[in-house]
Amino acid sequence: MRIAMIGTGYVGLVSGACFAEFGVEVTCVDKAAEKIAMLEQGRIPIYEPGLEDLVARHRAAGRLRFSTELGPAIDGADAVFIAVGTPSRRGDGHADLSYVFAAAEEIARNLRHPALVVTKSTVPVGTGRRLARLFRRLRPDLAIDVASNPEFLREGSAIEDFMRPDRVICGVETEEARATLAALYRPLNLIETPILFTTIETAELIKYATNCFLAMKITFINELADLCEVVGADVQQVARGIGLDGRIGRKFLHAGPGYGGSCFPKDTVALLRTAEAHGVALRLIDTVVQVNEARKRRMVKKIVDAMGGEVAGRRIAVLGVTFKPNTDDMRESPSLVIVPALQAEGAEIRVFDPEGRREGEKLLPGVVWCGDPYEALTGADAVVVLTEWNVFRGLDLERARALVRRPVLVDLRNVFDPERAIRAGFAYTGVGRGAVSAHRPEPRAATGDER
Ligand code: UGA
Repeated sequence: MRIAMIGTGYVGLVSGACFAEFGVEVTCVDKAAEKIAMLEQGRIPIYEPGLEDLVARHRAAGRLRFSTELGPAIDGADAVFIAVGTPSRRGDGHADLSYVFAAAEEIARNLRHPALVVTKSTVPVGTGRRLARLFRRLRPDLAIDVASNPEFLREGSAIEDFMRPDRVICGVETEEARATLAALYRPLNLIETPILFTTIETAELIKYATNCFLAMKITFINELADLCEVVGADVQQVARGIGLDGRIGRKFLHAGPGYGGSCFPKDTVALLRTAEAHGVALRLIDTVVQVNEARKRRMVKKIVDAMGGEVAGRRIAVLGVTFKPNTDDMRESPSLVIVPALQAEGAEIRVFDPEGRREGEKLLPGVVWCGDPYEALTGADAVVVLTEWNVFRGLDLERARALVRRPVLVDLRNVFDPERAIRAGFAYTGVGRGAVSAHRPEPRAATGDER
């Protein structure tokens, strides 16, 4: 089979390379000539484990091509995937569909045969329907079928997520579309992946509902972490205790500084806007968005408190600035709120991040970038972990203790064993670890009922 993938961002590039791995002939198209030139030289514009090898292998085999020319890429294709960005529209939080519609118009202009156009980009409910109308208007001479095939891959484990997904969602309107998508995903039958065929609207909504539910799950455990700190409970054990209940599940219950990234913040707000436009209140999601925003600022207070309120003129080592490990992505990272706030309080910030520097240099002016964690924490008055990169887990805390000026460790990802950190001489503050924190607060005095 042959497909064209329009857009070489995370979703497009990973999906394109993975479809090539399934044996499909893929042409990835992007307007950004410098990106295509880079890919043609075997260089990958994003950091994603395993992607460089996968792309190299299929380029060499001739199954994966890159081009700036949409016309030839879609000619003869069994399906044309739209995988361009749908960022938040400035000002109102609606998904910005201008790239999607620009791609659709170009597809319509260039098509020479009936075709299936599939949205892989995250698009609001109703977009598939609008695209179908657009195609009917621009090309009444051609049967252009539309389908929705949202992607659930996570940055950092994107290839594994594509190759071994929990499920594949296909929103289709015709038997032909169903047959084409079933054929493209046939290799997943071997691992018995459920492939769910729905209407286009349902598929579009499943994507948003998934991200909103996960954002809600994280926000739930984050708020419980606050309570744990006050009552002397351990959020890690609470998460394990509730997660073992099959109805709840163990994943996405790691308390931290708030969710970030290119998806959850944008998709939660976009779903709210869609619901508003249809006169439906999604109060839970609305609260999730507000709690998560406030949480990033709360983390600043947590750091300042751990430093005894003295931040001006102090040196803070920040370990990790990307929104999560195994990516160089800084979009909506909690660090973009926390670091400038600490700078505004007069702190000097030294950062180490294994992959974040290139993006981070543009977004975090005034910080000192360091080549390794020990360089970052030399002479520091506090060490703050913002991203749970694996290299931090193995940090030699005795060595770190000898290098810092003041042994204050604020671990916003619960990377370290608190007992070990305390033994190494650090005053330790985690997230929701009231039971084990060095600064264990006394459980609150009995209230109302017990009086
Ligand atoms: C997310 C979804 O997990 C993917 O399924 C989806 O395809 C993708 O969005 C998308 O819509 O394109 P991603 O943004 O790459 O993927 O990252 P996640 O691993 O989901 O993490 C998102 C944020 O939640 C990060 O800031 C992470 O630190 C935070 N998080 C995650 C927690 O704070 N606690 C957790 O337990 C899990």
